[in-house]
Amino acid sequence: MNKNILPVKGTHDLYGQDMEKFNYVVELFYSIANKFNFNAIQTPIIENQELFSRSVGELTDIVSKEMYSFVDKNESILCLRPEATSGIARFAAANYQSGSLKFSTHGPMFRRERPQKGRYRQFYQINIENIGEKSPYIDFEIIYIASTFINKLGISNDKYNLLINSLGSAEDQNNFSKLLKDYLSQFTKKLSETSLSRLDKNPLRILDSKDDGDKEILVNAPKINDHLSGESKDYFSKIKMFLSDNGISFQENDKLVRGLDYYTHTAFEFQTNEEKRQNAILAGGRYDKLINMISTKDIPGIGWAAGIERLMALIPNVNKGNNSTKKILLALQKEEYLNSLDVLKQLYQSDFSHEIKISNNIKKLFSYADKNDFDFLLLIGESEIQSNEISVKDLNKKIQKTHSLTDFNLENEIR
Ligand code: HAM
Repeated sequence: MNKNILPVKGTHDLYGQDMEKFNYVVELFYSIANKFNFNAIQTPIIENQELFSRSVGELTDIVSKEMYSFVDKNESILCLRPEATSGIARFAAANYQSGSLKFSTHGPMFRRERPQKGRYRQFYQINIENIGEKSPYIDFEIIYIASTFINKLGISNDKYNLLINSLGSAEDQNNFSKLLKDYLSQFTKKLSETSLSRLDKNPLRILDSKDDGDKEILVNAPKINDHLSGESKDYFSKIKMFLSDNGISFQENDKLVRGLDYYTHTAFEFQTNEEKRQNAILAGGRYDKLINMISTKDIPGIGWAAGIERLMALIPNVNKGNNSTKKILLALQKEEYLNSLDVLKQLYQSDFSHEIKISNNIKKLFSYADKNDFDFLLLIGESEIQSNEISVKDLNKKIQKTHSLTDFNLENEIR
């Protein structure tokens, strides 16, 4: 006997009510992004692996442990994208002229993580990126858009916290790395193997360690925001002022370092306050050094991404009632009634959502229409054919009428 083929571990199908919710989240996202003048983009799902080893960082978990990579026939190393920002940055590097390039996108991302509720190996993100200009106002605006989006989804503000931090400029990070390395070098015997391997090349990554022993060592480690330049501090203060002035509550959190290497200055995360591990629903930050890590250009940028599945888990089911398109079932008792049937042509040309069903069992046709939320049932059975008629049942109002089949005008009868 053949075994049933199951979905790949950490992946899931989306259908029915889930698909309704998914589309609702994506449509709301694009409507808000359009209002702020962001333009939709789709970049490929397969990219050169080097894009992510340079941008997200070779020593991050995402690149070192979780990539779906493969050697292509021409021997180049390709991968399924683990995130969208790097692909968009690649596009921006090649196409930027002046001012701001403002992008919105959504699609599947791939990370070979240990699957659990809210954490998948194929998951979907929505993303927004503003590339080209740098000012505290732009950082504030990108966070403001996130907050508007979350509120419009109906997630009340007692359900989540906005955490923010400043990671400083690239120069601040270099100086801080040296301090951190000096501090951590006292503990080489106690650090986890992974952290030890990061000590020389990228000590900042150690701040993100999930290892309990490392966490203990990190309690007394120097904090990056105690070592920011005056300019970086001033930049961060302005963002906090804009947020407060616009009624957006936030908590400053010096532990928020993010799991990707490209960030500078502002980092933020919207986290649900439910006691479960996968609590980051939307996250992002400024990435002024990213484009220079993957190209010869040097262009600043900022953006965020949200996990669609994690947002879906926080919103109620979507009511399909707001869809004004009427749904029609044209039911025929015999296949031959289809021949030169004018109402069929009218249905094809109309904007109504419709389905044709042929069955000798009229009871079954009625029950199919009821179970599948049709608004109207158009019935052509044996008795209708004999009298050259069509029966039209309004399934919401429960009214049935008959009309001449020859003169039947669909648009006049369906309201
Ligand atoms: P990230 O923090 O890696 O950032 O992911 C952003 C969001 O994607 C998370 O907050 C979470 O909601 C969702 N997410 C991440 N991994 C998974 C997973 N395995 N399963 C389900 N959902 C997940 C980025 O990806 C950056 N590119 C964000 C960004 C955009 N920064 C600047 N622009």
